[in-house]
Amino acid sequence: MSVNQKLFDFIAASPSCFHVVRSAAARLEECGFTSLSEAQNWDLIPGGKYYVTRNQSSILAFAIPEDKPAGFMMCASHSDSPTFKIKEHPESESAGVYVKLSTERYGGMLCSTWLDRPLSVAGRAVVRDGSKIVSRLIHIDRDLLMIPNVAIHMMRNANDGMSYNANVDMFPLYGESSAKGSFRSLIADAAGVKEDDLLSMDVFLCCRMPGTVWGAKNEFISSPKLDDLQCAFSSLEAFAAAKPHGAIPLLAIMDNEEVGSTSKQGAASTFLYDTLSRITEALGMDYRRAVAQSFLVSADNAHAVHPNHPEFSDANHRVKMNGGIVIKHNANQKYTTDAISQAIFASVCASADVPVQYFANRSDMMGGSTLGNIANTQVSLNTVDIGLAQLAMHSSYETAGAKDTEYMITALTKFFSSALTMNADGEYEII
Ligand code: CO
Repeated sequence: MSVNQKLFDFIAASPSCFHVVRSAAARLEECGFTSLSEAQNWDLIPGGKYYVTRNQSSILAFAIPEDKPAGFMMCASHSDSPTFKIKEHPESESAGVYVKLSTERYGGMLCSTWLDRPLSVAGRAVVRDGSKIVSRLIHIDRDLLMIPNVAIHMMRNANDGMSYNANVDMFPLYGESSAKGSFRSLIADAAGVKEDDLLSMDVFLCCRMPGTVWGAKNEFISSPKLDDLQCAFSSLEAFAAAKPHGAIPLLAIMDNEEVGSTSKQGAASTFLYDTLSRITEALGMDYRRAVAQSFLVSADNAHAVHPNHPEFSDANHRVKMNGGIVIKHNANQKYTTDAISQAIFASVCASADVPVQYFANRSDMMGGSTLGNIANTQVSLNTVDIGLAQLAMHSSYETAGAKDTEYMITALTKFFSSALTMNADGEYEII
């Protein structure tokens, strides 16, 4: 099976941030990783492979090498994507004919791309199971919802720059009036409980379109959630293939990047710090010395130059799909890359024979941000911001390069199999 087909399968199995973590955990278990609980004692041994989750929506995995590790070689991506969250009382009747669902925006999506395409819901239901409160992942795996456009005849300005009101224009149609009162029971059914035992839920819209490879020479791929599951998937595959020596490779897939990372499980949380300090303690390493000889790759997709709007890209820093790893710079530290981290990571890519390209925003444009600089407020270390070039970021259906998934896997396999030593501040060796 081609690597992009595996990516599409991973995305199809991962319609919510919770499913992303479940898919990653399943892949890690195939490779002999065992699950740790934050509530239990950790006995870690050389050669051991472990993972830990928080909120079922962030996951950290690490492999202890047989030799003595100096530090950590880490890569972080994110499990969430812009979508709409179903509210607690979602059903409302409309026009005496319909039932629609009330939602809230999660992150900054391109609203128009959610219209006129089959949607469903996925997330978790929390249910009563005897004396226990148990979370169950749910995915209604059929075309369930649609957000219909208004016809051009009724909205003549529809092609002149629409604005979308999240409380009016973006509510999905669920059924005719007879569907009233059935949404909760649909979720309870999916969770395998009676409606009375359904206590609460975190449920989001998901786009039902499958991934595809296309273009004159099959150059492109399109799929929901390439930001950031292309990086999550490729870093997971690289991590699984790595041969650790001299450092502990650590894979992070974190939730809530799209809303600023400030949750108990996001990049601004203590999750990474707590995990690193527990690992160093269990292995008798000094935390501060280990972090000084560690490296973090913050992997989140980047903006390819647009075919109809090349002017939105900086003239000297236009990146293209299929051009390999994008190293991102921002003087105001929205991206963490500096001369040291660029030199270290670009030399890893060079030794893996993977091309790199450099991105910076136009100097009169703000651009986005990502996980690296936020994670550094909890664990401060040399970090580079990278990604793969893509179009239509935050569309419900995004486009990227068909060759780039493999480039990322190759580069990160090399990275996870490397170790960094610090000779002096400003002087490093990668082995
Ligand atoms: Co992203």
